[in-house]
Amino acid sequence: MNQRRACITAVGTHVPEKVLTNADLEKIVDTSDEWIRTRTGIERRHVVEPGTPTSEIAVAAAREALRRRGIGAGDLDLIIVATVTPDMIFPATACLVQDKLGATRAWGFDLSAACSGFLYALTTGAQFVQSGTHRRVLVIGADVMTAILDYEDRSTCVLFGDGAGAVLLEPGEGENGILDFSHEVDGSGACYLNMPGGGSLHPATRETVDARMHYIKQQGQHVFKYAVRKFAESAEKLLLRNDFTGTDVDLFVAHQANIRIIEAAQHRMGLPDVKVVKNIHEYGNTTAGTIPLALGTALDENRLSRGDLVLLTAVGAGFTVGSVLVRWSGVSWD
Ligand code: UT7
Repeated sequence: MNQRRACITAVGTHVPEKVLTNADLEKIVDTSDEWIRTRTGIERRHVVEPGTPTSEIAVAAAREALRRRGIGAGDLDLIIVATVTPDMIFPATACLVQDKLGATRAWGFDLSAACSGFLYALTTGAQFVQSGTHRRVLVIGADVMTAILDYEDRSTCVLFGDGAGAVLLEPGEGENGILDFSHEVDGSGACYLNMPGGGSLHPATRETVDARMHYIKQQGQHVFKYAVRKFAESAEKLLLRNDFTGTDVDLFVAHQANIRIIEAAQHRMGLPDVKVVKNIHEYGNTTAGTIPLALGTALDENRLSRGDLVLLTAVGAGFTVGSVLVRWSGVSWD
């Protein structure tokens, strides 16, 4: 008997129209296009108009996925939103998305795993489909990073952008679908990348605002070294466990935080450029949005075919690490 697998049956993406280039940032902080491009690979990022919440870009991506699959929001059973920039601390952004979409039958929740958030949410959603209890699960990765960026801190404000992606998970009985995953947490890394203010540890006060604690803080070099090591480790571990090597991978879809991190993993696995998706030059790091946006880029470039072995990998704040192996089911993309 064939095992029931969760298949990605639709993809939707959304980035805001407004673009912030490296040249624009040169006017705001002491930086240069050359520094940003050579250290990160980023050339521009898309940013929302101030006041646009994460739910809005999440809903836009979700609508695209539903339209492509030809189903209505009322057909959804569950909505999971991966984000570190929820509209509010509570209720969950998933509730706001459920209401805006009119997904009246769906329950939902948010999941916080920073840059690994989409992969954790994808894996979580897949369990509900594989168990047979849910037929249609919408997994969204969405972040409005500009809401928590300090435009006086050149070491972080140049790195991030806003964006969202959504995938629909449905059951399939053949070879295709989510094959396996490998996730890790190393909570001792929490101090290297975080937003200290606004939670129960440092509730918002005049002092926390004055101390700029409601912005993202990062010790970039430490995170960089950890990410380079863990990207390759996580991806290779998952491949090995499934009796694959880098040569079996048709497409490597990595979290887009720094082109040097992606290329280090690419070279370690011996993957040619044609097997690696890179769109960081256009969007920067959109946190939970990067992997579904990268799936969108691959579909735009006609680089995903039914039966392809797709490896998804991310490392993020926490530290969180995740890899997911997918046998691509094929989606309509118009
Ligand atoms: O997605 C979540 C996970 N996050 C990541 O994966 C990010 C990982 N980290 C990185 O990608 C890199 O560490 C950064 C891109 C953040 C920084 O690159 P780096 O090569 O590690 O630079 P650095 O932090 O060692 O800084 C080198 C120099 C410093 O100047 P001095 O001390 O050498 O004089 C910084 O002050 O570059 C300076 N610098 C900048 N210069 C121009 C830092 N930011 C900037 C900037 N423009 N925006």
